[in-house]
Amino acid sequence: MTRTDIRVEQTQHSRLADVDFDNLVFGKVLSDHMLVADYHDGVWGDVSIVPYGNISISPSMSALHYGQSIFEGIKAYKFEDGTVSIFRPDKNWERFNKSATRLQMPEVPQEIFIDGLKQLLSIDQNWVPNKNGSSLYIRPFMFATEAALGVHPSISYKFIIITGPVGAYYSKPISLKVETEYTRAADGGVGFSKNAGNYALALYPTELAHKQGYDQVMWTDAREHKYIEEAGTANLIFRIGDTIITPHGDTILHGVTRRTIIELADAWGLKTEQRKVSVDELIQGIESGQVSEAFAAGTAATITHISRIGFNGRDYELPAVETREFSLKVLDYLNDLRYGRIEDSFGWNF
Ligand code: COI
Repeated sequence: MTRTDIRVEQTQHSRLADVDFDNLVFGKVLSDHMLVADYHDGVWGDVSIVPYGNISISPSMSALHYGQSIFEGIKAYKFEDGTVSIFRPDKNWERFNKSATRLQMPEVPQEIFIDGLKQLLSIDQNWVPNKNGSSLYIRPFMFATEAALGVHPSISYKFIIITGPVGAYYSKPISLKVETEYTRAADGGVGFSKNAGNYALALYPTELAHKQGYDQVMWTDAREHKYIEEAGTANLIFRIGDTIITPHGDTILHGVTRRTIIELADAWGLKTEQRKVSVDELIQGIESGQVSEAFAAGTAATITHISRIGFNGRDYELPAVETREFSLKVLDYLNDLRYGRIEDSFGWNF
């Protein structure tokens, strides 16, 4: 399939002029167009870019009942000269297809995911904000569309990309409650895949954490609730002593932002480790002053500093944000790179 195979129907009623780019609420404003591709019985068929709008589904559509539904989060930025750049969509495409395989769904070819995205953004390029801190959030997703109540892999799927301008997902540092009762993922499960169910299961424990005064939960392992996994909607990274450390394994989502930060730290000659981090190590490290930085890393979250961690009824405060050399340096570097202010020596801007 080549890019010319994509049918384009442009909107006659752009909503762009109505958007207040200074007051963006995450995920509430969606751009004029979306890409839609249909898969049936082993073949990707019609691919089109059409005006954003409702779609029709069957009440017996299997994704609604059995959860074959996956997604990604990517961001595009606008350089000062107007160039639109997508940040590492190749890595999201790879992860999307890993999620698809785990949920017994078809892979989406590069011509649809990456080339289709580029074509969609060339049509909606005026939706990419040019303000520092803002970006165009890109949400590719796929779900099972077969109208069937029998439990089996669907014979048909819909892949859609929608986009919308966003500001920061978290507008201030966040507090986390170490979760020792509920579990996000277990060995052999679907923790590494970006499927809708992983987010649904988080809502109840997160609501309990909110009631106790925390912004998000810090997930721990299913077996012992002893090792740290990830937080709410993002991965976790710590600076302990002189090492940048992030939890590792197939029960966590392998985030593109997390990977980017570890690659940067490596390139800067810092010591990095991807390994199990126990709650005890973290708490003792905070008490002894060894933990100098803790932050959540994700496409939506970018880098969100962690201010406080609650564990076993006690709160542990992290050092003041102004003292966090590494995460502040990463944030500045990534902003300069994504807005095209420095050379892209890693080849991350598409
Ligand atoms: C992202 O960071 O892109 C995510 O998918 C998190 C989202 C659930 C808000």
